[in-house]
Amino acid sequence: LFAGPMDFVKGVVAMDGLPPADRLEVCFAGRSNVGKSSLINALTGRKALARASNTPGRTQEINYFDAGGRLYLVDLPGYGFANAPVKVVEKWQRLLKSYLAGRQTLRRAFVLIDARHGPKAVDAEILGLLDKSAVPFQAVLTKTDKVKASDLEAVLTRTREALSKHPAAYPELVLTSSETGAGLPVLRAIVAQME
Ligand code: GTP
Ligand code: MG
Repeated sequence: LFAGPMDFVKGVVAMDGLPPADRLEVCFAGRSNVGKSSLINALTGRKALARASNTPGRTQEINYFDAGGRLYLVDLPGYGFANAPVKVVEKWQRLLKSYLAGRQTLRRAFVLIDARHGPKAVDAEILGLLDKSAVPFQAVLTKTDKVKASDLEAVLTRTREALSKHPAAYPELVLTSSETGAGLPVLRAIVAQME
């Protein structure tokens, strides 16, 4: 899947702008600045496919990428703090929730969690929504290059404990770094299995 073409399809700002639900898709959700867009770039080996930046609130639309006509990869706006006007943020948060709860072809949501911090209160709300909507999700720890192995253990324990309360969660975590490439082959294999 990742050896073939990967194209930007469109940025969606309202539910009626979603592309036709004619194939399965996976999405990348998580707090603002957790590394969603960077992870898509790292997974696809395309530096600037999705726009990443140090400013939380960079991605403000639902961005669709087409993996060879076989699967959509979906980059979502973040939740939590964002460097954008309140009204604008509210609008994309509503869209994000409608999407997560109501996209029929959404096969799996990858919920990204910063490996330095573990899950936060604002993650619990989204995980609850995924449970309620019966969208299977899998936690992906990001930025593992920024954590000492000795500190990572405690975060892993906390993350596993938090996930155990969520019926829609896959128990296995994926540990990644878009910087070093750690965990990317595993995540590519999981995504490739979805089509
Ligand atoms: P929003 O679109 O604002 O919700 O953010 P995002 O989740 O898409 O985050 P983005 O990919 O834009 O990355 C945010 C910042 O984290 C950027 O400065 C990235 O360079 C940095 N970053 C992302 N992944 C990693 C990683 O694995 N390691 C390190 N060290 N930095 C990372
Ligand atoms: Mg982004």
